Order: sequence, then structure tokens, then C-alpha cells
Amino acid sequence: MKLGSKEHKKLFCQTFLDSHIHYEPEDLPWPELDSFHLNRLKSIPFWREALTIEEEAGRMVSFFADTIDDPLIRDAIALQGREEQRHGRLIQYLINHYQLDIAPPEKEELPKDIQKEFIEFGFGECLDSFFAFGMFGIARQAQYLPEPFFTIFDPILDEEARHIVFFVNWVTYLQIQSGKGFPLLRGVNTFLSYLGAIRNLVDSFGDVDLGGTQEEGEVNPFTASGASHFMEDLTPKLFFATCLAENEKRMAKFDRNLLQPMLFPRLSKLAYQVLRILPEKNSKSISNSVKTSIT
Ligand SMILES: [Fe+2]
Ligand SMILES: [Fe+2]
Repeated sequence: MKLGSKEHKKLFCQTFLDSHIHYEPEDLPWPELDSFHLNRLKSIPFWREALTIEEEAGRMVSFFADTIDDPLIRDAIALQGREEQRHGRLIQYLINHYQLDIAPPEKEELPKDIQKEFIEFGFGECLDSFFAFGMFGIARQAQYLPEPFFTIFDPILDEEARHIVFFVNWVTYLQIQSGKGFPLLRGVNTFLSYLGAIRNLVDSFGDVDLGGTQEEGEVNPFTASGASHFMEDLTPKLFFATCLAENEKRMAKFDRNLLQPMLFPRLSKLAYQVLRILPEKNSKSISNSVKTSIT
């Protein structure tokens, strides 16, 4: 199958549409939590950020879908918009159900260049999802919450995996169709877009308090640095190893003819190999090591 061909388009759109699962947040088997686990749930510092991101994504992706002429791509992106809206409803349901004290997010204006916004969002999602897979794996290993909680969130992370696989195939298809398809330019464009996403992540490490609470109006990262919330003594080596293993597990479900996001798995593999040969004292701080690995 040739990248950028009609066959490629059909494969990445149809795979996405066919793998959609039906559920509504209120129908999921939310477990009862004792006060110990309820306090743990309440101490997770990123619920407001997660709600903001999912609600904004739902609006933006749905709006972008309406601007697309190609019916198959439009259907797929409209479905992604509905899935992001459902993620927002799911987090809102969780907040209400467990009575978390979270201020409602502020709504932002949709940008004029909606395709550019969707592309930046897609690259950011590749980064966030890779680290979110690892963070989820760390929290599950640590049994931070009862297992039924992880059973509920597992398919949501699979949905994010579907979004990023769809995205890297769609953006490649778009670049080839618009004549920017030769490999070098595609690589440069992609790398520049990732650099923006990496810069945002590195910036966000600057003022993150790994063990603290969220200030009013402050947006904290909840992927790379957030993992340390769930496990004491988390080392960067274990974090990268978990991200890689979790990513591999989720990516194994996709057709091998589809492209998969590769930059962060490759960077993390490199970081992991470097950390393995460094003396232990050089891998004290997860935030410093993540910074080092991606700058
Ligand atoms: Fe989402
Ligand atoms: Fe998503």
C-alpha cells in the first residue's frame, strides 16, 4: 500500500470508524471508594486541566470536521470530535460522582486557522498520549486506585491511541496530497511541529510542583511529570521503560500497514539506554531527566 493513496486513506479512516466503541460515562461501573482512595482520587492534581483539554478538543475537532470536503475523512474526524466530547463528559461525570472540588474550565474562542490548530493539537496529542500511557501504567502498577478504576480508563487510553494513529496517517496523507510529500520535507515539517510540542512540555516543567496542589487558574502538565504523583521513588528509568512497554502494547492492536507515532518512542528508548549506563545518582529526578532527554 502506497502512503498518500486512496487505499491508504480508506485504511486509516475505516480502521478508525470501525474500532469505535459505544458507551456513555453514566453507564460505566464506577466503583465505590473508601475514604482512603477517595482522598487519593481528590489529590490527583490534573482533573481540571484534563477537563479543559478534553472539552476544548471536543469543540475544536468537531468544528474542524465540518470544514472538510472529503466525506470519509470528515466522518472520521467528526467521530474523533464526539469521542473527545465524551472524554469531557466522562471527566465531568467523575468530578460530580465523587464530588471533587473542581472549578469549571473557562471556554476559549476557537482559532481562525482551524486546520493549523488541529495539526498542532494532533502533534501535542502524540506527545501527551505517549507519556499518559506510561503514567497510567505506573498508577496501575502502584495500585493507586482500585482496579475497576483502571478498567474504566483503559479503553479511553485506547481511544487516544486511535486518535494519534489516525492523526499521523492523516497528516502524512495531507502532505503527500498537497505536494509536500517527499520524505525529507515531511520529516522536517513533522520535526518542527514536534519541536513546538516539546518546547511546551519543557516550559511546563519549569513551574511544576511534583508533590503539590494546583493554584487557581494554573495549568500543570499531567503526563511526564504527573507520573511521579502515583509512585514514590519513581525513577526515570522505570518511567521510560513503562511508557515504552505500554505504548507497544497499545500500538500492537493496529494494522501494520498504518503509520504509528515514532518520535517519542525513539527518544524514550534512547533516554532509557543512556539512563541504564549512567550511575544511579545521575538519575535522581524524573523531571530533570525528562528535560535532558528531550532538549
Ligand atoms: Fe481525549
Ligand atoms: Fe484524543
